[in-house]
Amino acid sequence: MRPQKVIFLIGFMGAGKSSVGKLLSVLLGLDFIDSDSSIEKNEGMSIDSIVKNHSWDYFREREAEWLANVDPNKMIVCATGGGLPCFQDNMEKLLQMGTVIYLECSNEVLFERITTQKTHRPLLSALSGDELMNFITTTITDRASYYKRANIIINGNGSVEGIGKQLMLWLSK
Ligand code: S3P
Repeated sequence: MRPQKVIFLIGFMGAGKSSVGKLLSVLLGLDFIDSDSSIEKNEGMSIDSIVKNHSWDYFREREAEWLANVDPNKMIVCATGGGLPCFQDNMEKLLQMGTVIYLECSNEVLFERITTQKTHRPLLSALSGDELMNFITTTITDRASYYKRANIIINGNGSVEGIGKQLMLWLSK
């Protein structure tokens, strides 16, 4: 089974977009790309350095630019940065170009995963536990109306393998 459109995975930091995306790309026999990694490669520095050396606005511009360069005619699996769908008209473009899958996780699961991956997210490492939970809760509330426009909303709390299996069922419908 080969999907007819680009597959975009969206969701908050720690939702598992890259892990699930990589598995899905193997199961579907498609290439995988990740907006964060592509931007880091193009800019020659990590996202944290991009934000420190430039600004969040600059990073959001790079995300919009990355999206504008995705070829809608090439079937691939893309994991997008957690904020990408929620700026400019990016969500509209994702929906026009592909099948958009939202990995929806509970705030507790996101907290757990972000806390254990803190070294990979230096911008969040300065936050205390309470501040991080508050950040997750308020940011998800702000972003929910974007994320929930996805074509497929799937519970992302479980294992990568389990989510991969469920998505293969969805995509074969
Ligand atoms: C961000 C999520 C990150 C990265 C950047 C901003 C966000 O991507 O794009 O740090 O605003 O939610 P991941 O969701 O892949 O961690």
